[in-house]
Amino acid sequence: MSVTIKPATGAQYSRIHGVGGYRPTRVIPNSEVLNWIDSSDEWIRTRSGIAERRWAGPEETVAEMSVQAAGKAVAMSGIRPEQIGAVIVATVSHLKQTPAIATEIAQRLGCGTAPAFDISAACAGFGYGLSLADGMVRGGSAEYVLVIGVERLSDLTDVTDRSTAFIFGDGAGAAIVGPSEAPGIGKVIWGSDGSQADVISQTQAWDTAFAKPDAVNGAGDETKWPALRMEGQTVFRWAVYDMAKVAEQALEAAGITADQLGAFIPHQANMRIIDAMVKKLDLPPSVPVARDIAETGNTSAASIPLAMERMLERGEAKSGDLALIIGFGAGLVYAAAVVTLP
Ligand SMILES: CC(C)(COP(=O)(O)OP(=O)(O)OC[C@H]1O[C@@H](n2cnc3c(N)ncnc32)[C@H](O)[C@@H]1OP(=O)(O)O)[C@@H](O)C(=O)NCCC(=O)NCCS
Repeated sequence: MSVTIKPATGAQYSRIHGVGGYRPTRVIPNSEVLNWIDSSDEWIRTRSGIAERRWAGPEETVAEMSVQAAGKAVAMSGIRPEQIGAVIVATVSHLKQTPAIATEIAQRLGCGTAPAFDISAACAGFGYGLSLADGMVRGGSAEYVLVIGVERLSDLTDVTDRSTAFIFGDGAGAAIVGPSEAPGIGKVIWGSDGSQADVISQTQAWDTAFAKPDAVNGAGDETKWPALRMEGQTVFRWAVYDMAKVAEQALEAAGITADQLGAFIPHQANMRIIDAMVKKLDLPPSVPVARDIAETGNTSAASIPLAMERMLERGEAKSGDLALIIGFGAGLVYAAAVVTLP
């Protein structure tokens, strides 16, 4: 007698039910950055669009910022934390390798025994998490999924490096993905290009930054704290040319045209990249564009949910609008999709 396994069955469609963000209290204006590098407020504003960024204090840990952001997303979605069936944390700046920070966050939020894990997809981390969450909700492995993008990039910033010291910021953004009666998340166009792995990366792996203790001869070499380095112009070109094509694919896969969008929420990497993408996509001026980078800097995995929350808060976009999101960064990795705003 042949037996068949009963497969998991999920919802027909998924959508984002709630979004929330946490911004650290300490504001770092460009004037403070000028204490570290030879630059000017005008140069930083014209080359990156950044006026200020937020840096986390000692109490604003990766877990603490995540719990604050997730609490807001849970409240907006109207569900109870115990209904969350999985917690995904996208981050590249949780500095403790094991265990994943997601389990502590799930426990502090009251998510019971929900599976909880971290993913490393840099500035595409939120989009990667969204793709996983969408698949989990529709595949039946979780009813609601909490996706968090969180970074303390200040911990990995070399304040003497002129090409990165002014760019990075800290913060957390979160979204609840769950079942929906109508499609609320279009096909996520995601991918990677490992041939460009060196374009944005940590200067050293932890095992070379901190020489392993030598049992015979005592301590190893001098320690060198790793930082993020990038080839700015290579990233710039890739973002403008290749990522606009990925954004177009996401629109096409969702069957949406640019004029039907209620918002464009690209990764907040650089204002000039955002402007160039708007031009390449031929977005009508009526589509509001997220420009949170001016006040928040580049917060990698946190940047899209933070910008989404801010646009909704400020009434620049409204619940039910269609938004095109696209994240891209170290890996190189990318993820784009059309979503219905919560
Ligand atoms: C980082 C970035 C702003 C630098 O701008 P750029 O125009 O490429 O700058 P360059 O490195 O070519 O340097 C241009 C000039 O500015 C100078 N410069 C570099 N950093 C500077 C700084 N912080 N302040 C003032 N001048 C600076 C250089 O010395 C150079 O001067 P020169 O022309 O006299 O030699 C830009 O490359 C960028 O935005 N890249 C994308 C980065 C990004 O978005 N990363 C995140 C991806 S997730």
